[in-house]
Amino acid sequence: MTIQDNSSVNAFIPGQVQLDAHEANMVAMRDRLLGPAYRLMYQKPLHFVRGEGVWLYDASGRPFLDTYNNVVSLGHCHPDVVEAITKQVATLCTNTRYLHETILELADGLLSTVSSELSHMMLTCSGSEANDLAYRIAKVRTGGTGVIITETAYHGITDTVSQFSPTLGPAVNLGAHVRTVPAPAAYRSGPNVAERFQRDVEAAIADMMRHGIRPAMLIVDSIFTSDGILPEEPGFLKGAVDAIREAGGIFVADEVQPGFGRTGSHMWGFQRHNVIPDIVTLGKPMGNGQPIAGLLARHDIVEKFGNSARYFNTFAGNTVSCAAAVAVLKVIQRDQIQDNARDVGAYLLDKVDALRARHECLGHVRGAGLFVAADIVSDRVTQASDRARTAQIVNSMRENGVLISACGMDHNILKIRPPLIFSRDNVDLFVDVLDRAIEC
Ligand SMILES: Cc1ncc(COP(=O)(O)O)c(C=O)c1O
Repeated sequence: MTIQDNSSVNAFIPGQVQLDAHEANMVAMRDRLLGPAYRLMYQKPLHFVRGEGVWLYDASGRPFLDTYNNVVSLGHCHPDVVEAITKQVATLCTNTRYLHETILELADGLLSTVSSELSHMMLTCSGSEANDLAYRIAKVRTGGTGVIITETAYHGITDTVSQFSPTLGPAVNLGAHVRTVPAPAAYRSGPNVAERFQRDVEAAIADMMRHGIRPAMLIVDSIFTSDGILPEEPGFLKGAVDAIREAGGIFVADEVQPGFGRTGSHMWGFQRHNVIPDIVTLGKPMGNGQPIAGLLARHDIVEKFGNSARYFNTFAGNTVSCAAAVAVLKVIQRDQIQDNARDVGAYLLDKVDALRARHECLGHVRGAGLFVAADIVSDRVTQASDRARTAQIVNSMRENGVLISACGMDHNILKIRPPLIFSRDNVDLFVDVLDRAIEC
């Protein structure tokens, strides 16, 4: 039996909508074969059979505009990535215990996008593993265990990382060594977001110390996705980063969401804040769908860990995944993907913001590059969240062929995160469908 999942506004709940016989059969088979932990998106689940560029096609051939997918950030089935994977898988698929040029090309390419202080790359298969590895390194480096996160953070699913991923819900316990701080939401709590965030991190450090816990790391998604997407004002991280370092911990920038050019102005989200992290974790868009993730780190941060512990992760850094990631980096540079994210992102932000004049329920609208958030509220002055309206908008857009989702503590923030090849025409279509979804 499918467990009812009301934790997200964007989930299939059995019995709410009519499914055709084939869909109903697939849902029943998933329940039987996959068990109760899996969830489907949207009130009416989708069954895709093909993707191309910004489009996904369902079993009947109907196209859907994908305004949500940050994994295939160069678009579905990008020809360069497909070719790189195909060639490599037909030639050789081995692991990091053999010499191979591609992993070196990837490391060189990635490290050339960050400050030279970050001098090593290590690879994993997922963002969760990258954050898990970052924490292991942080513990060895600092001798501490304490972790500071924002209150609606998500960093992954391993046992260790789930203990600092509060969005997994109240049934997943936070570790006793974990402290949460309010998300730095300038638009909600007013100016001085930098000072406030620093003070909150300092208070978390003090509380840890009082409980005999030595700080190991402050880790944040540098665009604060699950906290509601918080790009403003660039630069607000600096004081908090200084505070964790003064307390003996390190700063980890989780770039799984904002990385690889999404914010438009920079390749990495932390660069908007003018800080150099001790570790940068990478994931989702890195292989445009191929499971490759990892981290970049300073030499002195990984030195003790690397000298004391062997690191081998069977699939991580295999030649095929590396070929995909090298292709992704080349396309980002060759096709000026970051510039597209900046220009089309600004156009998208303007057009979504312009809808506020027509729709009272559209609260604050904000964004950086092709990452735009829009609060759905029942009252603009108090900014009271309207979760039900958010669900209606997300599902109505899905019915009209456009995919988005929602995020934030109250699940009332539209999460607009298209592939980075999105065009102005795509924006026009998106905004038209959004406008109609809000109206109904
Ligand atoms: C900020 C952030 N960090 C880490 C992860 C975990 O990545 P993965 O699902 O590849 O394990 C996610 C996934 O959504 C994420 O959004």
